[in-house]
Amino acid sequence: METNGNMISEIGWAHWLARWDAQQTGYLPDREARFDAMLTVLEVLAPPDFVALDLCCGPGAISQRLLARFPRARSVAVDLDPILLALGQGALGTMEGRLRWVEADLCDPSWVEQLGESRFDAVLTTTALHWLPTPELVRVYHELGKLVRPGGLFLNGDNMKFGPHLPSLERVARSVRERQWQDEAFAQLGVENWAQWWAALGQEPALADLLAERERRFAWRSPDNPVNAGRDLQQSALIEAGFREVGIVWQRFDNCILMAVR
Ligand SMILES: C[S@@+](CC[C@H](N)C(=O)[O-])C[C@H]1O[C@@H](n2cnc3c(N)ncnc32)[C@H](O)[C@@H]1O
Repeated sequence: METNGNMISEIGWAHWLARWDAQQTGYLPDREARFDAMLTVLEVLAPPDFVALDLCCGPGAISQRLLARFPRARSVAVDLDPILLALGQGALGTMEGRLRWVEADLCDPSWVEQLGESRFDAVLTTTALHWLPTPELVRVYHELGKLVRPGGLFLNGDNMKFGPHLPSLERVARSVRERQWQDEAFAQLGVENWAQWWAALGQEPALADLLAERERRFAWRSPDNPVNAGRDLQQSALIEAGFREVGIVWQRFDNCILMAVR
């Protein structure tokens, strides 16, 4: 960010954020409905001046919507991707001092200290934790058991596999997902897919250094083989981590919100 600072400040971040949202909505037609359901949970169960952690925030989709809906709330947004953090900071800034950005890797246990605060009313995350290898995910859930205050909330919106005892449900969900995620489906909607969005952003010369750094940080990850710990394992891990009520609060096929109350 330092080396190309001037050029970076000239990037049309709002434009790239709108393209990000369009691209993500191609994968998740109910993306906004899912955000809305997560925020409805907060409306009912969180105090008006709650502090949230936006886990694997990307460019800050959750924080943006949450801070617009709850004027007395505050959010800490954490992610490892230097480009998506730059995009979020460029497009949203600090939302009048209520949004703080943190760069950290959830696979490194020191991420908790890097947050700069140790108690949250709510932790929210979307379309992200399937990136974590299962042992890391289980460790993160145990860390969340300490970060979320008693009575606080965890909400994970993601595609989550059905258990092995529900093969027909899993088959239906997979079929819907595969149809929805075909290149033709994106073309019909007139939106970019993940690879096209990143390729287009890669044409911004000012981002060359950050893109190289991003490549380095995610070199281990295969885009074709996302990790998905499945809902049963995630529910058990949350209970073991000290959450007392754990269940699905919203769902469309395997796209769901897993909710836990500490
Ligand atoms: C598909 S994006 C979702 C972003 C955002 N939550 C949204 O819904 O628009 C997945 C995010 O998870 C982040 N992520 C993946 N592994 C991570 C890790 N080990 N530590 C921190 N962030 C990670 C990625 O950098 C990326 O921003």
